[in-house]
Amino acid sequence: MSKVDVILGLQWGDEGKGKIVDYLAPHYDIVARFQGGPNAGHTLEFDGKKHVLHQIPSGIFHPGVLNVIGNGVVIDPIIFRNELKKLSPFEIDISNALIISNKAQLILPTHKLLDQALEKNKGDGKIGSTLKGIGPTYQDKIGRNGLRVGDILEGNFERRYNSLKAQHVEMLNRLDFEYDLSLQEGEFFDSVQELREMQILSTEYFLDESLMSGKKVLAEGAQGTLLDIDFGSYPFVTSSNTTTAGACTGLGIAPSKIDQVFGVFKAYCTRVGSGPFPTELNDAAGENLRRLGNEFGATTGRPRRCGWLDLPALKYSCILNGVSKLFMMKADVLSELDELYICDRYIVDGQEIHEIPYSTEDTINPGLTKAQSWTVDQISQFSNLPAALTSFISTIEKYTCADIALVSLGPDRKETVAKEGSIFLY
Ligand code: GDP
Ligand code: IMO
Ligand code: MG
Repeated sequence: MSKVDVILGLQWGDEGKGKIVDYLAPHYDIVARFQGGPNAGHTLEFDGKKHVLHQIPSGIFHPGVLNVIGNGVVIDPIIFRNELKKLSPFEIDISNALIISNKAQLILPTHKLLDQALEKNKGDGKIGSTLKGIGPTYQDKIGRNGLRVGDILEGNFERRYNSLKAQHVEMLNRLDFEYDLSLQEGEFFDSVQELREMQILSTEYFLDESLMSGKKVLAEGAQGTLLDIDFGSYPFVTSSNTTTAGACTGLGIAPSKIDQVFGVFKAYCTRVGSGPFPTELNDAAGENLRRLGNEFGATTGRPRRCGWLDLPALKYSCILNGVSKLFMMKADVLSELDELYICDRYIVDGQEIHEIPYSTEDTINPGLTKAQSWTVDQISQFSNLPAALTSFISTIEKYTCADIALVSLGPDRKETVAKEGSIFLY
């Protein structure tokens, strides 16, 4: 029997998970998404083309890799249909390359309206949600009101849809929010019809059988650990468990079946939406990082807030996920900087600390240490990385007690170096 490897983000999302899942996918039989939904935007690049996936797992471009949308995911049928349309030029045999859990929750048009109305009502305290209906859909799941993908195959689907919609409309009418549902609803039912044609099954059984027969499974996370509903900077978080534990509940995999946990992080930090960001640069240096790293949201196009690498936060994420290997992304972006820093402590009320404080109201001053800058003009081998970059890597490894097994030096599949002797030397 084989086990499951997990790949997930260690910061506030957008670490480069899509690129790395696509890079590793040929070494797996199955790639499975376990949480989140269309709030995710996972970018991959190959043959000079960029692709952004929202709900479809990032193994989809590899023939022979089966992709699973797990029960922990929330699906918007309309966005799903559009994603499929964008894949049509690639002649992927979708019916054999993608299966969907009958227990994944459905995002209804009214969930999206509620997301917008609730955000608007929050005023200055807004989360900065992607407005894809994520929060309201997970709320209905936990409140035991939700509709699941399996329900679209039942005769009473429309009746159940109308009943849940009526509850949502009542809530919307209590909020100061104008809306028009008519357009979205027609599109929703057309898209649901297409969804019915997909392979919808109890993917937990399928995954168990696959593991029993020795198939290799890679679980793909969305968002990042610092957006986790339990451990992120609550309430400025998403509504799911983005950690390794989420892979167990979001796919129906027992903890004992998890093998490696690959934690993906950028060599600096970004965040979209509201909430604490201790190392944020609200100056020209931050703007420079945004420009060099092209830091604009893959889902909403919003500019990402940028700052230096935050080691106390990275260590926290390593602890929560049981990270076995670290993958560092976007080292090429820092290679363009003359001066660069790394945060290796926090200063709160004049005290030096290494843990994230409970209150999101606390002012956290980052303790910064200057790092030597490097230049990477040519991508060769891990052992030939510039000395200053190697020293940056050692600092991170020492602080987090985890090994960096892979460094990414550009958005393309090929712009990746894996540590010699590690299992990633493909
Ligand atoms: P994800 O949500 O974690 O999959 O990440 P996103 O796709 O939202 O954001 C990562 C962005 O960085 C995308 O535009 C990628 O194409 C790009 N990217 C990934 N790795 C690298 C890298 O090593 N260097 C550079 N310059 N860009 C990268
Ligand atoms: P990927 O998978 C970055 C952020 C939003 C907002 C908060 C809540 O591409 O890394 P939500 O729509 O979930 O209610 O928004 O979480 N957020 C992300 N930030 N990358 C993502 O996904 C994100 N998904 C949600 O900006 O602050
Ligand atoms: Mg993203």
